[in-house]
Amino acid sequence: MATAGTAHAVGTLGNAAAAQGRYFGAAVSTAHLGESAYAAALDAEFGAVTPENEMKWDTIESSQNSFNFGPGDQIVAHAQAQNMKIRGHTLVWYQQLPGWVSGLSASALESAMNNHITQVMTHYKGKIYAWDVVNEAYQDGGSGARRSSPFQDKIGNGYIEEAFRTARAADPNAKLCYNDYNTDGVNAKSTAVYNMVKDFKARGVPIDCVGFQGHFNSQSPVPSDFQANLQRFADLGVDVQMTEVDVAGSGTAQANSYSTIVKGCLAVTRCTGITVWGVTDKYSWRSSDTPLLLDGNYQKKASYDAVLAALGGGGSTSGGTSSGTSTGTSTGTSTGTSTGTSTGTSTGTSTGTSTGTSTGTSTGTSTGTSTGTSAGSSGGTGAGCSAAYRTVNAWTGGYQSEVTVTNTGSAAISGWTVSWTQPSGDTITSLWNAVQGSANGQTTAKNAAYNGQLGAGASTTFGYTASTGGSAPTLTLTCQTG
Ligand code: XIL
Repeated sequence: MATAGTAHAVGTLGNAAAAQGRYFGAAVSTAHLGESAYAAALDAEFGAVTPENEMKWDTIESSQNSFNFGPGDQIVAHAQAQNMKIRGHTLVWYQQLPGWVSGLSASALESAMNNHITQVMTHYKGKIYAWDVVNEAYQDGGSGARRSSPFQDKIGNGYIEEAFRTARAADPNAKLCYNDYNTDGVNAKSTAVYNMVKDFKARGVPIDCVGFQGHFNSQSPVPSDFQANLQRFADLGVDVQMTEVDVAGSGTAQANSYSTIVKGCLAVTRCTGITVWGVTDKYSWRSSDTPLLLDGNYQKKASYDAVLAALGGGGSTSGGTSSGTSTGTSTGTSTGTSTGTSTGTSTGTSTGTSTGTSTGTSTGTSTGTSTGTSAGSSGGTGAGCSAAYRTVNAWTGGYQSEVTVTNTGSAAISGWTVSWTQPSGDTITSLWNAVQGSANGQTTAKNAAYNGQLGAGASTTFGYTASTGGSAPTLTLTCQTG
């Protein structure tokens, strides 16, 4: 078993995931933040948090239009002090819903839903990486039908679309997710969600991501088509995330399930991160299932070791120390300076041009063909990115565009800037998932705080709407790292 980690050391879950361009988070409760062992484990290992209950409707708006942000704010403050991403959970859900909501008439409920979304998202504006806008709207079993809830029963099928549109208007920079359980494999329920997302994308309803809760036990193990299911959603043009992972069990069986989950996510470029549903078995909502990565005494379990190994064991950071094995093919251009120590074995082929300075010590074996000096996986800036443009939707007088930014280099990047010439007469009305600017007469979009980090080959998207006197243009964009 591994030994206790130190804060932000290479070899923690959060850092290992970051080296892959992903986040690794945990659900947290304000009730335990004051326990030093809990806070220490959270801060040492995790790069993201989800409030376990503090942003649910019954906590935030237990009586109508009276908002209690205190508990959620505590988690946000803790996370920001630790530079962690924050997932907002959850705006519209049939559970942990105060009684007054279900007592409303249809039109009053619709207003209350929109007001709740707007007030909560406005309060946390700019602080939340992704919101679970709607949670658990579909039934289990083979029907693929919507679940009965006050929202479904009174507002009707359109409530989900309305919630997402309201959410986009409230905080255009937060990613908007649909989140559910028993959707981790291909089945009637996940296919119903898939069809909804497909329809939303086709009609320009704002949705950026789908969360898969990932609560597993012996009755509901990790499905064999888990990765394929994530991929089919990603292929619709949304990010996917594992949002509430826990796996009942212990030892090797539990470790193997976790390993499958992590590897499946890493194999899907648009799988942007994984959250486990708690820091320690001690406070899990299913504590008797011992479903997490740290035991009741905050000791690392076999499941922890499996996750860290699947994440690449910590990898290397620029200018740091690298150990491990690297296989594969690297093409591209690498410039930069690398300092540090690299130990391990590297096999594969590296082609391209690399300039820069490499200092330090490298031990190990390298086989294959290598031209140039590779600053790639052992440090440096291994730079390169591309930006692909598409029109998502167009209407008289306007259009919506999406830009996919891909790290084409062989090392992780920590920032990107896309530039293009906006056609004259076209004005951007709203841009999300990036920060708009201008340089040299061009429009620029720089990564937001939460999507600058991209592992080799990883992508992220930003989007915007524009008004136009003509039709939606075809654009060529350039991408620069940094
Ligand atoms: C759970 C919490 O972990 C518990 O503390 C609470 O009592 C009930 O809710 N799906 C979700 C989560 O989306 O919000 C739930 O969290 C677990 C199932």
